[in-house]
Amino acid sequence: MSRAPFITFEGSEGCGKSTQVKRLAARLESLGLEFLVTREPGGTPIGETIRDLLQFNTEAKSMTSETELLLFEASRAQLVREVIRPALDRGVIVISDRFFDSTTVYQGAARKLDRAIVEQLNAFAVGDCRPDITFVLDVDLTTAHSRMNKTARPADRMEQQPKEFYEAVRNAYRELAKREPNRVALIDGARDVDKIDNDIWETLVERFPQFQKN
Ligand code: TMP
Repeated sequence: MSRAPFITFEGSEGCGKSTQVKRLAARLESLGLEFLVTREPGGTPIGETIRDLLQFNTEAKSMTSETELLLFEASRAQLVREVIRPALDRGVIVISDRFFDSTTVYQGAARKLDRAIVEQLNAFAVGDCRPDITFVLDVDLTTAHSRMNKTARPADRMEQQPKEFYEAVRNAYRELAKREPNRVALIDGARDVDKIDNDIWETLVERFPQFQKN
């Protein structure tokens, strides 16, 4: 059996990727396809503990960018080996809400850590388990902020950065889409959710034979 598709969703806070992950999952479910949804950081008991440390731990205010980078990679290394790789090998489609592009963008471009080191650590964490397709939901900062302000939960540590940080995030995602057009699809995330959902599905149907049959 050939390996199942590995699909990732990326974008800045408030871009709407979690909504689109749910919609894609509902579509695959209705077609009777076997799939699994996961997220980063998190997705395993170890990863969820790391997520909590990164986002809400009171000590995390003093966390250095280097520590942050290594924690994201640690969560990823666990997720790949415990969940993603085994699922893909069993023929199960994997959808991940964020993956290594988040580190390239947030720790590399926005935190300005050495790009070559970030790439090496990403490679070490994932091995040959790389996404087949990545949807980057692109939204302007005003739209993203108004969406974030509508959520009831308090902002976590990563959501309390200055405006320049999120500008760097957005630009880096757009550059990534230019650099890797075969893998990374840039989607205008400011539109109606149904339109976005349809764009994503059309791209998948075009790209993967297992979706065409249905
Ligand atoms: P989210 O899952 O709600 O989008 O939150 C995850 C946060 O962690 C978000 O602010 C992006 C950030 N993040 C990084 O900075 N680097 C990473 O490698 C990952 C996976 C997430």
